[in-house]
Amino acid sequence: MKILIATEKPFAAEAVHGIAKIVKDAGHDMYLLEKYTDKAQLLKAVADMDALIIRSDKVTAEIIDAAPQLKIVVRAGAGYDNVDLAAASARGIVVMNTPGQNSNAVAELAIGMMIYMARNGFTPGTGSEIHGKTLGIHAYGNVGRLVGRYGKALGMEVYAYDPFITDSAVFEADGVTQVSSAEELYAKSRYVSLHIPATEQTKGSIGFDLLTSMPEGGTLVNTARKEVIDEAGLARALEERPDLRYATDIAAGNQPELNEKFGKRVFATAKKMGAETGEANINAGLAAANQIVEFFATGCTRFQVNK
Ligand code: 3PG
Repeated sequence: MKILIATEKPFAAEAVHGIAKIVKDAGHDMYLLEKYTDKAQLLKAVADMDALIIRSDKVTAEIIDAAPQLKIVVRAGAGYDNVDLAAASARGIVVMNTPGQNSNAVAELAIGMMIYMARNGFTPGTGSEIHGKTLGIHAYGNVGRLVGRYGKALGMEVYAYDPFITDSAVFEADGVTQVSSAEELYAKSRYVSLHIPATEQTKGSIGFDLLTSMPEGGTLVNTARKEVIDEAGLARALEERPDLRYATDIAAGNQPELNEKFGKRVFATAKKMGAETGEANINAGLAAANQIVEFFATGCTRFQVNK
């Protein structure tokens, strides 16, 4: 089988070597399209591929149409909002993610961003500590759980909300207080760390009302997706509440305007960088390769997301 790694972003060399070894040992061939700049390159590269490993690369119906042999797409990472699942399912293509594999990198960045904002962007002046402050985790999946545990270790009082987790033991095991609505979470939390996926239900769902319900000094850290923010609502909240802050690794559409108007109260990394560590690349990349090899060997569809 022909397996293509297609990633606009660089992938750690060790990840590429590790994937190559797994693929070769299983008797398949690996191809690499890294740091491509044009969709035409991807359209050409997928033409005779059986499997695809991607990161946040867009796999649209057009890409799927250009890959008549394609049987499986594995997103080396958590979010799969970049894959047209309906188009894949219509062709019988299995789509998987690699849950948990890059979570630590994202969780560390979320905590780092809280400290960065608490210390006024590492500029002179009196900042504050996150110890003793309330932290709300919005969505308690793999990343949210790590942020919750790290927050506890740093002496924060941690709350979490996740409408999809019904078993309260999940929260209790981490010593985290479960709350029953997003409204309750934001109203209680000086810091909120956002980990919801971008879906039709969540897009634009975090805006003025939730932000302005936060306590004095409220800081939202978004290492999830840009699309879940109501950007006009965010700007209005920052305008009306001079104590609020916003940090993200995925710049808002109106980020230049936010930077200009709100200075150090907002921060965005130039490119999405939650999972930009060698460890995350290696963990997610090798998991993706192993999942593809197992799929071809046994038909195993564990971690399929388009069932
Ligand atoms: C994910 O969904 O796994 C993270 O957002 C990281 O995405 P990336 O691989 O595009 O950096």
